[in-house]
Amino acid sequence: MDAGEGRGLKGYRGTLLHFLDDPFVVGEEEACAHVADGLLVVDGQGRVVSAGPWSQGAAEGLEVVDWRGCLLVPGFVDTHIHYPQTAILAAYSGQVLEWLEQSAFPEEERFAEEAYARRVADVFLKELFRNGTTTASVFCTVHPPSVNAFFEAAEAVQARMVAGKVMMDRNGPVGLLDTPQRAYDESKALIERWHDRGRARYSLTPRFAPTSTEAQLEMIGALRVEFPQVHLQTHISENPAEIAWVKSLFGHLKPNLDYLDVYDHYGLLGPGTILAHGVHLEERDLQRMAESHTALAFCPMSNLFLGSGLLPVWDVLRSQRPVRLSLATDVGGGNRFSMLQALNEGYKVAHLRGRGFTPLQGFYLATLGGARALGLDDRIGSFQPGREADFVVLDPKATPIQAFRLERHDSLQDRLFTLMMLGDDRSVRATYVLGQRVHGQA
Ligand code: GUN
Ligand code: ZN
Repeated sequence: MDAGEGRGLKGYRGTLLHFLDDPFVVGEEEACAHVADGLLVVDGQGRVVSAGPWSQGAAEGLEVVDWRGCLLVPGFVDTHIHYPQTAILAAYSGQVLEWLEQSAFPEEERFAEEAYARRVADVFLKELFRNGTTTASVFCTVHPPSVNAFFEAAEAVQARMVAGKVMMDRNGPVGLLDTPQRAYDESKALIERWHDRGRARYSLTPRFAPTSTEAQLEMIGALRVEFPQVHLQTHISENPAEIAWVKSLFGHLKPNLDYLDVYDHYGLLGPGTILAHGVHLEERDLQRMAESHTALAFCPMSNLFLGSGLLPVWDVLRSQRPVRLSLATDVGGGNRFSMLQALNEGYKVAHLRGRGFTPLQGFYLATLGGARALGLDDRIGSFQPGREADFVVLDPKATPIQAFRLERHDSLQDRLFTLMMLGDDRSVRATYVLGQRVHGQA
């Protein structure tokens, strides 16, 4: 390699781990790239130049940050999270419908005030970075200023974020309701303002079927046709009471209607759509999600915290028709921001559904798996040359018990699995967005 000086190159030395393919589908050897003593080189624009062995990459004049003893992995991708629920994290409540009414809705009403939205957006982004998350698919509230506040905060640090204004025109407090026309006009204006401005991506965001009228869902279908390049995010089949409610509201659309049929009816499935939860989906729904290339956000912390149920992980991944699976915290339905903690709970849920996933499969879900589910894997999620250099520095020995645990058994598998089971924000020594440090010390 040429001397780094003058080209703005910077190097980071440590153990490199990233994925080139899906370890649930191909062998782990083939899916993953691991370099025990590696060097990640990033250019002045914040793009990956190379990721390889230290012995081959070091060049005279290259400024190198020494992260030996730590793992460098692509920034975590949280595919489902609500920034306006930051202040009600860990609210003591019942299951999801009660929790929405008692905790989430009253807090979201406060986002009519832009100054409040700005303050929370700032806390939220800092918390994501403290936990190593560099991209998230984010629900704002029904208020357009909540979207502006969020994207402005993300733009200030050049973070790649997917977000959108919630659309809901029934079954919520008056302060959180729009109308079909307002949802259309406001979403369109926000798409025109934000989609692909810098690293921002817009996502059409119907809250979930019960809070939209049929007229609104039709409008959202029209927006999807008008703006095929934007994302779409919503909730599905989280809780038995919610599912019964959907059947009572939309049962006339078709005999034996399933929850997924509602979104399908209005043209909301397809590549670019990510559905959260799906805990109680039927086999035929999983089939339809797979064939329509609709992705699923597995939210184990939320599903446990709100008592929603256990995602049948292995049914979702069944090889004849695998659904694109990703991992998410669902803060504030989920009670922590840490994707390592999401892996901890997700592993246990998978175990209860047959068997746990491997540490490499877990790290895939939290990185490239999320990028693929969002259709952003050509930009983020791995260290392939040209990718945007969002990465996290993980210390597998951040706490005394982790250091002790790894004294005698310190393989890559031990390090990854103990990070999954014991790790959290304390494991994150630094987080980099587009090559710039946004958390931690160099
Ligand atoms: N269903 C509809 N809205 C929400 C929400 O904000 N959180 C969760 N977990 N489920 C929902
Ligand atoms: Zn949610």
